Amino acid sequence: MKSGGVRSGTRAAITAAHLRTDRWWLAPAATAAGLLAFVVYSTWRAFSNSDYYAAPYVSPFYSPCLAENCEPMRNGPNWEIFGSWWGLSPALLVLIFPLGFRLTCYYYRKAYYRGFWASPPACAVAEPHKKYSGETRFPLILQNIHRYFFYAAVPVAGILTYDTVLAFRNEDYEWGHMGLGTLVFLVNIVLIWAYTFSCHSCRHIVGGKLKHFSKHPVRYRAWRLVGRLNARHMQLAWASLVSVALADFYVYLVASGVFDDPTFF
Ligand code: FES
Repeated sequence: MKSGGVRSGTRAAITAAHLRTDRWWLAPAATAAGLLAFVVYSTWRAFSNSDYYAAPYVSPFYSPCLAENCEPMRNGPNWEIFGSWWGLSPALLVLIFPLGFRLTCYYYRKAYYRGFWASPPACAVAEPHKKYSGETRFPLILQNIHRYFFYAAVPVAGILTYDTVLAFRNEDYEWGHMGLGTLVFLVNIVLIWAYTFSCHSCRHIVGGKLKHFSKHPVRYRAWRLVGRLNARHMQLAWASLVSVALADFYVYLVASGVFDDPTFF
């Protein structure tokens, strides 16, 4: 474990904590506030175990529904893998996958290391901790499983796509319905896929370990596409985080009777 960091004897002897004169604290503070707001909202919704289905919409926090105690849903995957012994909210059974995906994401790691642990607070601002072991030890070494969360995130995004397709049916199983909720779900699923494909692990899976791109033209094209998304990974991380919360909130409002879903046709 290395110690000292910017205060070690090998570094320039500058007494000031840092030499930045701009409002460097604004970005980590805003990041921490945004993440905290999402954590509070999603925790409330995940444990509430109610108002997550308003035909034809299923909250993305509760899909697929894997427990016997799920609300009866005519739309959306409802697989009762967990029997009557499961008494908690069914959202807790599925949220582990998107949560793990985001928690181990390269961007979110940077965001919460800076926002919550000040490690470091910002570029060229010394961190307050005396010791630094990076991600070489437990528990942070577990961040290496991000690739496997990516594998889990893909089928979850596939199921949310299925839910979005079913949002084009009305309560009587007839196709051709489109409400405001359908649009909310469409925007959300596009952003979810864009975020998922922009993942650094995805980029490596698609284009990594190749010696000659010229011999793998399909993978090369896919890698270029993923690379373009990857350059926007931070923006997509935030946009999809907001959109998934909004999609859930929309279902909550309709399911709890605050308003009826405006229908276009
Ligand atoms: Fe962010 Fe994989 S690096 S989702």
